[in-house]
Amino acid sequence: MLQDKRILLILTGGIAAYKGLDLIRRLRERGAAVTPVLTRAAEQFVTPLSVSALAGEKVYRDLFNLTDEAEMGHIQLSRSADLILVAPATADIMAKMAHGRADDLASTLLLATDTSVMVAPAMNVRMWDHPATQRNLAQIKSDGVSVVGPNKGDMACGEHGPGRMSEPMEIVAAVEAYFGLRPLSGKRVLVTSGPTHEPIDPVRYIANRSSGAQGAALGQALADLGAHVVFVTGPAVVPPPIGVEVVAVQTAQEMKGAVNAALPVDAAVFAAAVADWRVEGASAQKLKKVAGDMPKLQFTENPDILAEVAQMDQGRPGLVVGFAAETDDVVAHATAKRARKECDWIVANDVSPETGIMGGTENAVILITDHGADPWPSMSKTDVATQLAARISDALT
Ligand code: CTP
Repeated sequence: MLQDKRILLILTGGIAAYKGLDLIRRLRERGAAVTPVLTRAAEQFVTPLSVSALAGEKVYRDLFNLTDEAEMGHIQLSRSADLILVAPATADIMAKMAHGRADDLASTLLLATDTSVMVAPAMNVRMWDHPATQRNLAQIKSDGVSVVGPNKGDMACGEHGPGRMSEPMEIVAAVEAYFGLRPLSGKRVLVTSGPTHEPIDPVRYIANRSSGAQGAALGQALADLGAHVVFVTGPAVVPPPIGVEVVAVQTAQEMKGAVNAALPVDAAVFAAAVADWRVEGASAQKLKKVAGDMPKLQFTENPDILAEVAQMDQGRPGLVVGFAAETDDVVAHATAKRARKECDWIVANDVSPETGIMGGTENAVILITDHGADPWPSMSKTDVATQLAARISDALT
């Protein structure tokens, strides 16, 4: 989260300026205040009105604007931010920064500031590769400017190679890393989520009511803290998180295979509602209805994925977290489950229909660790995820 952070966002003139609009939205979603500055060239690509509307703030454009100078001089504007972000940064602005030129508002702000500066370059691949740009890049880096991207790929000008501006979410990640808000950077975390579907025949299956909401929220919260999340999901109702590695499965056995393939990990969180049983010898053909003759389903036990990982002799994740969905004696059952499965923590909840938790947006959990049972107040599944991710982060760092 970027709550209480003020970012001075300078948009310079390139086709990637349109991504600057999404960047403003993403930064504000995370609580940052965004003060936008547009160069004359940027105004050829995005309008001051759209930038101002998205930022919810006035757009600064002119160096010699008497009203702006009376309200907030350019020196103060350059210093009131926690970070100055130049996105997209053209070859031209990088050249001005490298040479200390100040011939418009954006370059003057960058010269007058004592605030940290981050740039997200965007330009044609030849311009990026040009020795002059590479010299300027080396110069601004040695002046302490941090650089995000550019990425390789197809460019608006029809060429291919490095020069595409990083995606808005990559820039947000770099901003969060700058503020030390990504403590799980470099950590690999596995999350299982959603129900499993156990086939009876090719068209029928046995399932459960898990929506996958809590697992998805948790995957998102862990990714937001910088973790590389491998998100192994059964057929859930809610979409998977953004910015995670999604592995989609149907059955418990497929989930087990995907979990094993994802190892080793620093932490593994098992939020999936895995079917305990599957139909033995599921039919390869659709079962036909025969009057008066009911199919007799035989069940066989599914692998307990959580227990198998928690009980690994070698390569066990540093932290193994299970969930326990109970309908009675929640603490007693969940505590016994933690001991039986040998996981480090159990996140227990009461899923009796009257609680509305299964398929709902709220959750009331009890975190069971070797320190005992800690009941959390009822809160949204997103808040449960944020708090649990913070606890996981504390445990791993
Ligand atoms: N789990 C798993 N593999 C299974 C069954 C469960 O990984 N085959 C995980 C779940 O993801 C969850 C935890 O184990 O983290 C608890 O699952 P639950 O079904 O509640 O526990 P059970 O051992 O099946 O106990 P019971 O059904 O008797 O409550």
